[in-house]
This record gives sequence, C-alpha cells and structure tokens, in this order.
Amino acid sequence: MKVLIINGPNLSRLDIRDSAIYGDLSYPQLVEFISSAARELGLDADIRQSNEESEIIGWLHEAADSNSPVIINPAAFTHYSYAIRDAAELVKAPLIEVHLSNPLAREEFRHTSVISGVANGTIGGFGPDSYALALRALVKLLKK
Ligand code: DQA
Repeated sequence: MKVLIINGPNLSRLDIRDSAIYGDLSYPQLVEFISSAARELGLDADIRQSNEESEIIGWLHEAADSNSPVIINPAAFTHYSYAIRDAAELVKAPLIEVHLSNPLAREEFRHTSVISGVANGTIGGFGPDSYALALRALVKLLKK
C-alpha cells in the first residue's frame, strides 16, 4: 500500500533549525528514518517536501483522486492555511497530521491547528517517532 507523506516549509532545513526543538536528524536522515519505518510495516512511503502552499494543495488533490492515505506535517501552514485545510478535507482515505515538536508546548501562535479538524488524528512531540507512530496508526485505520 502506498502512503503519501507530505512535509511543509522549512522542514528540508532541519540541519540548520534549532536542534533543541527539532532534534539532530537532517532532512535526508528523516526521510531515511520514515522510509524504513514504512517498509517495516509493509507500506511504500512516497515522501515529499515543499515550501509552497500551492504545491502541497496539488499533492492533496492527487491523494484525493487516487484515494491514497496521507501523513502530513504542514509545518507553519498548520497554523493558518485554510487552503491546505480545504484540500486535506477532500482526502477520503485516512489523513494523519504529525509534528516533530509539540506545538502546544511552544509559542501561542502554534497552539492553533486549522488542519486537525479534518485529520483522523494528530501526533506531535516525539521527534521522528511522530511519523513512525502515525504510520502504525495508519495501518490500523486501513484495516478497519
Ligand atoms: C512543526 C511545528 C510548526 O509549528 C513549525 O512551524 C514547523 C514544524 C513540527 O514538526 O514540529 O515548521 O510542524
């Protein structure tokens, strides 16, 4: 089973972001971690990253059209992109929101997610394991 994993803006630069918040993995290392966690569960992860809202919306349309499950870390778009929320709502297969950090333990502007309401669930605060946990949750949802 294919799963589309979408990473939003600035996640490609984990190497220069605050490691106290985002951990020590570079983006290529995160991609490797997610791919291997997916492989262990028998999933084929298509992992993409974009700094552009319109590109992410296009990928969500693609998932809606192909009925593909999605794991999305919308990064800063989490907090204000109604356009990404509306596109996520079109995905009828399971869609899980993930974050490396725990946004609720950070600045107030990060306490709002406009995406959570259209996701099956949200996992944050576990570093790369947030993705591994989301993949496990996804497998269960797909079996239902
Ligand atoms: C993030 C949390 C967001 O608030 C932030 O803008 C990001 C990354 C996370 O994975 O912890 O870029 O989504």
